[in-house]
Amino acid sequence: MKKLIIALDLSDKKKIYKLVEKIGEKVDFYKIGIIPYLLFGNEIIKWLKKEKKKIFFDLKFFDIPNTVKNAVKIISEHEVDMFTVHLMAGEKTIKEIVEIKKELKSNIKIIGVTILTSLAEKDLKFLGINMEIKEIVKKLVRYAYEWGTDGVVCSGQELKDLRKAFKPPFLMIVPGVRMEKSKDDQKRIITPEQAIKDGADFIVVGRPIYESKNPIKVVEKILKEIKDER
Ligand code: C5P
Repeated sequence: MKKLIIALDLSDKKKIYKLVEKIGEKVDFYKIGIIPYLLFGNEIIKWLKKEKKKIFFDLKFFDIPNTVKNAVKIISEHEVDMFTVHLMAGEKTIKEIVEIKKELKSNIKIIGVTILTSLAEKDLKFLGINMEIKEIVKKLVRYAYEWGTDGVVCSGQELKDLRKAFKPPFLMIVPGVRMEKSKDDQKRIITPEQAIKDGADFIVVGRPIYESKNPIKVVEKILKEIKDER
């Protein structure tokens, strides 16, 4: 299975098209988040589908059950392969989308988001929450599993423990992947090799690829590292 997902967090459509074309068959999975989706909408989804790419639709839905359910109905028509929803949206929201997926006989993968890695314990204190982030994450992943989602997004730091507790086919998708230490804001980083060793099904890499002068070289290096060359 191809394990690299490239995050297309770019605001220049031509640059996106050029990058995807240049990378060609080496990579078949791309992540569309709020930036390209707000700018280019379904045009970018349709284009990627035309290029025979898979789409990880990362809009991190967080809303009441009825709204999220209707959103899922819409995106399943767009042939999106995976999408994200905040697990904090709650049991009712998650169970309703698991149900609608069944009703629609859709293969779309429901991926839960736990706690954003930008948050620390001190950021949750104002809510009176005194649990360790690690514990909250584990609890949410347990619920994600029990409620019937297909997997979760998790950081490289949490991955090993979570993989021990939750076996495949439950998916673990890992962002914050770096070839080496870098200065950007992904402090909790993991290397591609380590992430796959620790049980990631997919690694998500954005800036190291699209900001590189030689994105192909970076992609090849990652694929080599995760023994996914082709
Ligand atoms: O550019 P970079 O490789 O850091 O891209 C990582 C991608 O993964 C971004 O699109 C970011 O929104 C996403 N991400 C995430 N959860 C995290 C960290 C990053 O979904 N905890």
